[in-house]
Amino acid sequence: MAAIGSAQYAASILSADFCRLGEQVEEAMEEGITRIHVDVMDGRFVPNLSMGPDVVRVLQPFKNKYEVQINVHLMITDPDRYITDFLCAGADEIIVHIEACQHLFQTVRNIRLHGARAGVALNPATSLNMLEEIVEEVDGVLIMSVEPGFGGQDFIRTSLDKIARLRRMLYGRHLDHVEISVDGGVHLSIVTDLVKAGAQTLVSGSEIFNSRASVNENIQALFAALKVS
Ligand code: DX5
Ligand code: ZN
Repeated sequence: MAAIGSAQYAASILSADFCRLGEQVEEAMEEGITRIHVDVMDGRFVPNLSMGPDVVRVLQPFKNKYEVQINVHLMITDPDRYITDFLCAGADEIIVHIEACQHLFQTVRNIRLHGARAGVALNPATSLNMLEEIVEEVDGVLIMSVEPGFGGQDFIRTSLDKIARLRRMLYGRHLDHVEISVDGGVHLSIVTDLVKAGAQTLVSGSEIFNSRASVNENIQALFAALKVS
């Protein structure tokens, strides 16, 4: 089952074994994952480098076989430079950091103009107040629950309250269609609390792709945690 209740998982391939990327992604989709999360890092906005549009391009054949969306999380300065490249490569959603955009309305409108979903991400120390003017223009808000840049970090507990406050803000403004995602440190033990707080998409990297167990075993455990939420 792809989504239980109103929550689902997005598999972040940052922690995948890149020698077996296609195989691991397919295993995740066979197990019911409907979103693949691609983390793009530029070594400036975050202190790490990762992948570019070619990775989104190689994932395209899976979209013919599975009902999967590709979400691109741009952890880069001045993301406008690369949005068209990622859209042409087949991204279904582009998520930009609110801290990285000079002209956010223009950026968000440009993404939507091309028929893709537009999301905005907030770093852990960025206040929800930053959403005040833009929230009506977006399809989703991604709450970073670790400092962006690396997989496998510990979940920042204050993110739970931030998600709950965002849920109330969206409800109060009749913006229930705006999806709340959470990214970073999403481990089995926190899933129930995240869903209760109002998170709808749980981005998970190292809990899915690790050497402890197989991808399908890890995903089964995550879905089991959703069922008790
Ligand atoms: C961190 C990335 C995350 C990361 C999550 O900067 O945005 O998507 O891959 O990895 P885990 O689930 O291991 O925290
Ligand atoms: Zn991410």
